[in-house]
Amino acid sequence: MSQTDTKSTWERFKRFHSEFPSIGLGIDISRMNFTEDFLEQIKPRLAKAQKAMIQLEAGAIANPDENRMVGHYWLRNSATAPTEEIRQAIDQTLESIKRFSDKIHNEEIKGASGLFRHFIVIGIGGSALGPQFVSRALKQPGEDKMTPWFIDNTDPDGIDLIKSKLANLLGKTLVIVISKSGGTKETRNGMLEMQSAYLAAGLNFSEHAVAVTGEGSNLAKIAETEGWIQRFPMWDWVGGRTSETSAVGLLPAALQGFEIDELLRGAAACDCETRNKSFEKNPAAQLAAMWYYAVEGRGSKDMVILPYKDRLELFSKYLQQLIMESLGKELDLDGKPVNQGISVYGNKGSTDQHAYVQQLREGVHNFFVTFIRVLQDREGSSIEVENGHTSGDYLDGFYQGTRDALYNNSRESITLSITNVDEYSTGVLVALFERAVGYYSDLINVNAYHQPGVEAGKKAAGEVIKLQAIIVDFINENKQKAHTAGDIAAGLNISGREEDVYLICQHLSANPDRGIKKAFTNIWHESTFQRG
Ligand code: PA5
Repeated sequence: MSQTDTKSTWERFKRFHSEFPSIGLGIDISRMNFTEDFLEQIKPRLAKAQKAMIQLEAGAIANPDENRMVGHYWLRNSATAPTEEIRQAIDQTLESIKRFSDKIHNEEIKGASGLFRHFIVIGIGGSALGPQFVSRALKQPGEDKMTPWFIDNTDPDGIDLIKSKLANLLGKTLVIVISKSGGTKETRNGMLEMQSAYLAAGLNFSEHAVAVTGEGSNLAKIAETEGWIQRFPMWDWVGGRTSETSAVGLLPAALQGFEIDELLRGAAACDCETRNKSFEKNPAAQLAAMWYYAVEGRGSKDMVILPYKDRLELFSKYLQQLIMESLGKELDLDGKPVNQGISVYGNKGSTDQHAYVQQLREGVHNFFVTFIRVLQDREGSSIEVENGHTSGDYLDGFYQGTRDALYNNSRESITLSITNVDEYSTGVLVALFERAVGYYSDLINVNAYHQPGVEAGKKAAGEVIKLQAIIVDFINENKQKAHTAGDIAAGLNISGREEDVYLICQHLSANPDRGIKKAFTNIWHESTFQRG
């Protein structure tokens, strides 16, 4: 289609735009050019996915590779949990989060310098992205009870930036270390870095630290042995990327001063809507169907997330992990190689219109867009930036214009609308995408709840760290000589790993405190490394 036929788009809009007033959500799939035939084919498959979801919610082992139940839906309505023990664990944890944050806010628990005014979340992936997204979406400068900071990497320079900002405030800063497994090295490193900062400041780290982690994990043991302020549980039936409504997401949100009951209420209400058996009345089923249509059930197109609201900028990043880590799988549930997934990227509109939207409109046609539109511009009234028009009119105009401009050039899009960004609507969005991922994973027959690829990367990094220790020993023991990567590999009898040796030595020699010098030669790969 070269020019939008407004009559037919209106007809399609009337048919495929749905509003769900009970959860303040709208979904418009009219700008996806699927046929009636497609709908007829996908509906029975979605019905099957819904049956699988009923079993999942009833406590079936929905993550067979790890032999685990998948229970993030119980977190916002504990009455749906399959056992009394789980129900109690959920309720007690929620209560303890509320009690703990009250005590922090009213100074019953305080730091070395008094009232805790800041907190640092140390975590990565599913143990950071949800809290980061929610913190950014809901923050109210001047009103928030605490200021959040995030260490979500083992980048020393990144950690230093946070340390320098909090240099004189550590006595008023609570450290929340989040790791379900309690063994993730990036998180462990962040914790050790902060522990040493507290020590250097003459403060007792344990009196400023809490942990969110699984029972019996390394982190749990450390928190216990060192007498940290408190520990909150993570259960094996909650995945990292679906943990926003567990202590992982709720503790930081409560500390920042957000209404966590509202967030849970939004998620629970969305869960109810998205269990609906009717395709027309189920926004998560519609989303999953549109993904299947757009990517032909095999990741043939990318998903571009474009929220037209600064507060939702990190939602793109959050969804990138939720969708790609859940769906990006080599094998299907029958063990057949499928290399599945959907690539997800995006930041926010209209900012991205001045970046990559040029390519979306005119370049390689390998994507579909999910717009997120927020109807209320701001709290309070707006000035007119020109006669009769506000900044918010422009933002919405840019959304509508971009959607049309893309559609006029055969680029398809879904639009999700919410009224405003608050605790309730944030809970709705989180639950909506969690369930869409669940439905879609059934359509393509993959386990959405494990992450073997992430584990493979962690294992390979561990090998590098081990090799580094051996190389350093070799250089120390042969310090009178300079060595090429080839010499070191030969000396260690690890022929074939010269590249690894070179990369490790290259990194060590760029950091003077590691005491290894590099001597350049004209042929770069014959550069030598020596203690010095
Ligand atoms: O979603 C996931 O499961 C992962 O992204 C994890 O959250 C991430 O690897 C961090 O793991 P952990 O919480 O065990 O430190």
